Amino acid sequence: MDSYEARPVPGIAGAVTVPGDKSISHRSVMLAGIAQGTSEVTGFLPSEDCLASMRAMRALGVEVLQRSPTQVEIRGRGMRGLKGAGRPLDMGNAGTAIRLFTGLLAAQDFDSDLVGDSSLMKRPMERVAKPLRAMGADVQTSGGGTPPVHIRGGHRLQGLAYAMPVASAQVKSAILLAGLYAHGATTVISPAVSRDHSERMLESFGVHVTTQGLTVRLEPPQRLEGQRLCVPGDFSSAAFFIVAALLGARNGGGLLIRNVGLNPTRTGLLEILRLMGADIETEDMRASGAEPVADLRVRASALKGIVVPPTLVPLAIDEFPVLFIAAACAAGETLVTGAEELRVKESDRIAAMSEGFAALGVEHAVLPDGMHIVGRPDGAAFQGGSLDSHGDHRIAMAFSVASLRAAGPIRVRDVANVATSFPGFVTLAQSAGLDIQESAG
Ligand code: S3P
Repeated sequence: MDSYEARPVPGIAGAVTVPGDKSISHRSVMLAGIAQGTSEVTGFLPSEDCLASMRAMRALGVEVLQRSPTQVEIRGRGMRGLKGAGRPLDMGNAGTAIRLFTGLLAAQDFDSDLVGDSSLMKRPMERVAKPLRAMGADVQTSGGGTPPVHIRGGHRLQGLAYAMPVASAQVKSAILLAGLYAHGATTVISPAVSRDHSERMLESFGVHVTTQGLTVRLEPPQRLEGQRLCVPGDFSSAAFFIVAALLGARNGGGLLIRNVGLNPTRTGLLEILRLMGADIETEDMRASGAEPVADLRVRASALKGIVVPPTLVPLAIDEFPVLFIAAACAAGETLVTGAEELRVKESDRIAAMSEGFAALGVEHAVLPDGMHIVGRPDGAAFQGGSLDSHGDHRIAMAFSVASLRAAGPIRVRDVANVATSFPGFVTLAQSAGLDIQESAG
């Protein structure tokens, strides 16, 4: 099992460019595969999660050519052109892949089986299976509502109006993908805002999707048209560098993070950190296809603890591990509630962060749906120590960032998983001045 040793450093500086967006990369290969004609994707994230989606599309008969790690050409087979894989599709660690493929494959003429690694095999699938069944699909999960997912194809789906119990972009997207093939329009109503990459990309491919407040409506199209797509840098990967610079940017110019996707359904962390007193400037806001991007300039800031507004929680759902690190370095107390979804991510992120905090001497209390954290703004907020990522990439990266305010080295075990979302994390972090060494075992 691989591990990191992150040693304290006085600060970071310079400029970094983070890899492509994971959510958008998954969607790009799926939609391009069922489009008419060739699509070209640049800025694709060549992480293990997105490569699982790419391999699944290939297994379904789509020609996918990786011209370079980040440049992908997809020869679409049209909406009815996929063919059965004839073997279980392995989604690895990728929650987005298994949820979205379940939606897409529920509408096909052939049967499919979807499996994944030990973490994915524990993740809830009924949240997707239930609405798909209501559309007329035959989707079975295990007794516990987890993978393996078995889909019996050949069912004619009906459009559905569905009020989601959780604000989940994965559930919404799975239903919309099935809705492409349904008889009649499909409407999904969310309890709160969730990322809208599917809606934006479906529109780019020529599908009629309308959003009014928390309601999305999709009209089944005749066809999707192949596209040129440019994937922006992943805000969730940038998040580790944003917090690192807030805790320890060395110079007045701060750290520049280039080409970051700033879709407003993803940037809750910026709002939360600004409420905590963060100095983050947005420079050169521009469009990258259907998505907004900008460069971020982040300067070292004296953060203060806050009560995180629950309305911002779904907009920052993947960023809580690193936000908890920021809170541990802030003056005063930070309270996060309404974040029970953290319990069913790649790990139980509330439990994993609590265990790491206990190992590093951070005063905190665990809540069923969040955490209460007592910050230590002066000197070291963390003791040196050793902790486990629980196979969760974002836990591993978050605790590496903690080294900026640690009294001694932080050793994080089980970090191979970082490759699921952020290949090259250690090299990029080192280039900014973090001292992270990888070792086997
Ligand atoms: C994602 C949606 C979110 C997020 C995940 C990626 C997506 O999950 O946590 O990392 O690409 O749609 P939920 O929709 O389950 O909240």
